[in-house]
Amino acid sequence: MSKYENEITRRRTFAIISHPDAGKTTLTEKFLLYGGAIAQAGQVKGKKNTRAATSDWMEIEKQRGISVTSSVMQFQYEGYCVNILDTPGHQDFSEDTYRTLMAADSAVMVIDAAKGVEAQTRKLFKVCAMRDIPIFTFINKLDREARDPFELCEELEKELGIETCPMNWPIGCGKEFQGVYDRENKQIIHFTSNGGSRAATATAVSLGDPGLDGLIGEKLHRQLTDDVELLDGAAAEFDLEKVRHGKLSPVFFGSALTNFGVEPFLEGFLRMTTPPLARMAGETVVDSYDDDFSAFVFKIQANMNKAHRDRIAFMRVVSGRFDADKEVYHVQGGKKLRLSRPQQLMAAEREIIEEAYAGDIIGVFDPGIFSIGDTLCAPGKKFQFDPIPTFAPEHFRRVRPLDTMKRKQFLKGAEQIAQEGAIQIFKTPYTGMEELIVGVVGTLQFDVLEYRLKNEYGVDLYMEGLPYEYLRWVETADGEPCKEEDLILGTDTKLVEDFKGRQLLLFGSKWAVNWTGERNPNLTLSQFGQGD
Ligand code: G4P
Repeated sequence: MSKYENEITRRRTFAIISHPDAGKTTLTEKFLLYGGAIAQAGQVKGKKNTRAATSDWMEIEKQRGISVTSSVMQFQYEGYCVNILDTPGHQDFSEDTYRTLMAADSAVMVIDAAKGVEAQTRKLFKVCAMRDIPIFTFINKLDREARDPFELCEELEKELGIETCPMNWPIGCGKEFQGVYDRENKQIIHFTSNGGSRAATATAVSLGDPGLDGLIGEKLHRQLTDDVELLDGAAAEFDLEKVRHGKLSPVFFGSALTNFGVEPFLEGFLRMTTPPLARMAGETVVDSYDDDFSAFVFKIQANMNKAHRDRIAFMRVVSGRFDADKEVYHVQGGKKLRLSRPQQLMAAEREIIEEAYAGDIIGVFDPGIFSIGDTLCAPGKKFQFDPIPTFAPEHFRRVRPLDTMKRKQFLKGAEQIAQEGAIQIFKTPYTGMEELIVGVVGTLQFDVLEYRLKNEYGVDLYMEGLPYEYLRWVETADGEPCKEEDLILGTDTKLVEDFKGRQLLLFGSKWAVNWTGERNPNLTLSQFGQGD
């Protein structure tokens, strides 16, 4: 076992995901409050107009009220050291969510009880299910009118393709909300709203208690007895193995805002999740309890602080202990280096840290040497963690600066944002460098590109939509680059290059992909990232 066993065993690392407005920020804030990381509600997120959630670094997020990028927070609770990875709530950023999930060992999914799985977030939830990591569901806002809880669970099962197991069950909703029934302990936890402060008052009463009518009313008591009977007969049985393989999602009901059910959820969650999980590096399993340090980069974010023009690489520590005084080996760069200004986020603050353990997320100052997926390990080791998959872009635009004098800033900004993994950039063999073809997974990423180029690089953009939807790598039989005039291409197909000079074809339809393959037998077309 590791020298750092105690530290590693108490760590839990999860990503929190939800549709915008389902209550992710509120729930996160309550967690931090329980963990003592913040002293009062409202520190993570201010009032709507002055919205200052720690995770909302970028202006565009504030304007739109959505979280575009992900952030990381850590807190201590009952001996556990918990790392929360926030994720963007909009489906257009599902690739960012996927990368964040790579760094997490489980996910918490927040659902609005009045809305259920919302159309816009289906993709995000699917992305979550794709990783096979444990998914814990918190059905929120029971203090408001809510949909039938059976219906909500059924919808989750249908949308995610995994079973659900309600751990507790709501008693009424809206004005009538009385708390939850804890199925394991066969107890009612009756809550009294206290405006959402730290200590929610909870009274535990057994289901058969004659005084229950007086506490929750005769009608709700009857309904609860019927619901519980139905649940015991029909709902999936709790199976920890299934939970840990992402096949069964434990479901908790509550209300983050008024603090109903948050602590039971946190406790249940911590009990059911595992310490940091191993990661694969080809054939090698890198166990979190290995003494040697290793980590991988899952996110790069530039200009988080405009005044400093900094670029931060976020990495997940996979094994051992990170020591700020020791050198590490950057495998892709082939160099030993000391990680500069390692930091962790605690609610509103960034703090410089001296050490971190497997399961932790650290952000380091990046002078432009790291890429997403890079491995860091102890000097003398040389493995590479499995790459983080990219998603195939589905929308393309031709983009150039309105002012041709700004060509340099334009390229610098576009390359930076491409390195962060937010966009893919291509050029055509015949045009100059003042024009790029930009591909994105969700169209909101174009807005981010436009906003950031203007804000961070002072460049106004001209953008023109292109009719392409599919992308394939191209290789010729003799390995030579191909020329457009030698190919038989339809009108909705275009040859482009990436920044390393590798050739790709853009297509307007799936049909065109097949047609081009058939007409150009010496070409090999291969899939770009995950997708179609
Ligand atoms: P998000 O991060 O998932 O986008 O959601 P967030 O926590 O920002 O919550 C969205 C809105 O829902 C907020 O109201 C928040 O107060 C409210 N909310 C969250 N949890 C609950 C709950 O359990 N019950 C009720 N009734 N409301 C809840 P807002 O008016 O948009 O913002 P604010 O003025 O409260 O800041």
